[in-house]
Amino acid sequence: MNAMPVTEPSRRTRYPGPIAEARKHPHALVEQGFATDEALAQILHRYPADLFDINLYDYDAQGQVSLRTGARGNLSGDQLLAAIQAGRLWVNLREAQKGCPDLWAAAMVEFAKIQATYPGMKAVTNAGQLIISSPVARVPYHFDPAGVVLFHLRGKKRLFVYPGDEAHLPEQAMEQVVARQTTEELPYNQAFEADARVIDLEPGEALTWPLYAPHRVENLDRFCVSLSMDFQTWPSRFRNGALYTNAVIRSRGGRPRFTDGMSRPELAARWAASLALRRVGGLRSRIADFERDFEPSLGAVDGAGALRV
Ligand SMILES: [Fe+2]
Repeated sequence: MNAMPVTEPSRRTRYPGPIAEARKHPHALVEQGFATDEALAQILHRYPADLFDINLYDYDAQGQVSLRTGARGNLSGDQLLAAIQAGRLWVNLREAQKGCPDLWAAAMVEFAKIQATYPGMKAVTNAGQLIISSPVARVPYHFDPAGVVLFHLRGKKRLFVYPGDEAHLPEQAMEQVVARQTTEELPYNQAFEADARVIDLEPGEALTWPLYAPHRVENLDRFCVSLSMDFQTWPSRFRNGALYTNAVIRSRGGRPRFTDGMSRPELAARWAASLALRRVGGLRSRIADFERDFEPSLGAVDGAGALRV
């Protein structure tokens, strides 16, 4: 008997890894009560101020983005929640593993179930951010230098996931992001929209996509809450290290080869080099201390009030 030819699922990325394309998974975080107004107000109230990223994105007619950033300010958790629900803010609570440990512990249980569906996938570190965002907020085109599982908890959001090829994800731009040389996102062109996979997420659904795949997010007229968990595997560590080393080489006038053509030993060697380079401050982060533009305020336009001195 003739065997049927085995059809590889079309890989939407030029990087190896167990996740070949975006896929949804169920999760059980919503019924555990983590996304009620009460739970969120409490988390916002006690979350360390230095772990808040409050972003306000504006887009021109070509879809090019500009960013304003907010400081935590002095609102109570209830007030902050109300300002987000009425405004146009995108709030990232970083280091969710520290800031909301109960939610985090439950999410790690869910992560283990999802990871088990990908043979060969083994996260060595997990970290994350709780994203609480206004009904009409949108996040621009970008990539994360990590694997990501986005646990959606509340509202409805639309994910646009693009191919991870050089056209959509130029390595030189990746180097700049990994080496923290820019707050700029990836170069974006509206023609990319023809190549997007569009996926709507409901509470109780989690989404993964191939390592580094560019994506953007639109909230669909609902206040949204998601836990974005990122994870590193040894292969992703090696590649991030290689991208960092390439950034240093490029900053010194070199022309490094792209990592997508490197063997695993070569990636490992460049990762090792990156550890030494980081220790001696190979590239100073240019985005460590940028100025804030506003403070959240209920009743102000977009929820963005004046920054208090
Ligand atoms: Fe992302």
